[in-house]
Amino acid sequence: MPRGTNTTRDDRKPEHGREQRDDPEPTPAPAPEHTPPARAAAQEPAADSRNAPPRTDAPTTNLRKAPPRSGKRSSKPSRTASPRGTRDNRPAPRRRGVPEGRAVRGVREIRDVRLVGDIPDERREQDAAYEKTLRRLSKASVNKHWEPYTDIPWDDAECAIDPEDPRWILPKMDPLGAHPWYLAQPEAVRARIGLWRQANVCKVGMQFENLLKRGLMTYAYRLPNASAEFRYIYHEMIEEGHHGMMFQEFVNRSGTPVEGMPRIVRLVGELTQPFSVLAPSLFFFWVLAGEEPIDHVQRRMLRDGSARHPLLTRIMSIHVAEEARHISFAHQFLRRRVPRMAAPQRFALSLAVPPSMKLGAWFILTPPAAMGRRFQIPDDVLRQTYWGADDSQRLIARAVSNVRDLCADIGLINPVSKQIWRALHIWDDKD
Ligand SMILES: [Fe+2]
Ligand SMILES: [Fe+2]
Repeated sequence: MPRGTNTTRDDRKPEHGREQRDDPEPTPAPAPEHTPPARAAAQEPAADSRNAPPRTDAPTTNLRKAPPRSGKRSSKPSRTASPRGTRDNRPAPRRRGVPEGRAVRGVREIRDVRLVGDIPDERREQDAAYEKTLRRLSKASVNKHWEPYTDIPWDDAECAIDPEDPRWILPKMDPLGAHPWYLAQPEAVRARIGLWRQANVCKVGMQFENLLKRGLMTYAYRLPNASAEFRYIYHEMIEEGHHGMMFQEFVNRSGTPVEGMPRIVRLVGELTQPFSVLAPSLFFFWVLAGEEPIDHVQRRMLRDGSARHPLLTRIMSIHVAEEARHISFAHQFLRRRVPRMAAPQRFALSLAVPPSMKLGAWFILTPPAAMGRRFQIPDDVLRQTYWGADDSQRLIARAVSNVRDLCADIGLINPVSKQIWRALHIWDDKD
């Protein structure tokens, strides 16, 4: 067993952190223009015919004090002011569709100074709690982590891989493991199929985490100084780097020619990297689409003793312990960010999440067609076990249940999205 297991993924309390400067998802309801925040009011000179009133319509855009106006105008901001700024250099109102925190032409910014009064108290408390959680996760990463080449006894005799070792035989929880065709095969063949299956899961895991790391790197590249997210994301990338080495080492030692994800998925996956900054919330749902299913299956196998080979047990134990932190981070990230999205974007996200989860679970929990060809598994057996079978659907539905609960908590379940979850057979009527 690993030296410790972080249990933070069950912490469902909304945690919130530092507002991202380049957040592409605008907040739905800017503060009313005529209500200056207390702090801003204290810093700004009294509004008169020469001074522009303090503006509150860009709560996280860090504004310098508005310059004095030269013309004779009412102190009340004009609703017809040019969005590009005016002759008298008044700050322009935030344009529709311009993300909060992004520079708007005509607005002068100080990037790292924020007018505290511009941010609602509740949001500031959420941000502080989010940062606290990230620091806790970072500390846990320092205190409990594993090195793939020192903490796994690859060369011990008991960890040697024999493809016909009966400990590789698929457990009953795997849909194929309980099928009469599989049970009728000789023990050596069942073991070879089981090893192939585990090696392919490791290969898929390595490929998925490779894509994940690229996206995280792109996201971290844009973070400001003193960002709690920056440090935690770097911890996560280091751990995922170890997982990739661990998984690939297992594939190499298994001697199985697995390819992991289907070729088309590998190619499309290479296009996902920019989404970590273009649509961070969707990207982090993709992260969960890969992490949650594999975590679900590994936890179940460790719990019911299905992982019988010591090498596999060790790899799964390490992975489950470190993934708990990664999943916790993704949940907290989404709990903070999604409720702040504008309604149209949030609605679009609610439609994109169920297919993302289904595809992620599908690629991880069902074997590619290559396994059927390699072991001459009849097509109808594969159909009955993985592709469309009730057992397989139930396994996938259970594997995404945590994300389904998360979506319910953060406002991503609506009549339309619920129908998509249902149509994809990943909805649970008990929800
Ligand atoms: Fe991982
Ligand atoms: Fe992870």
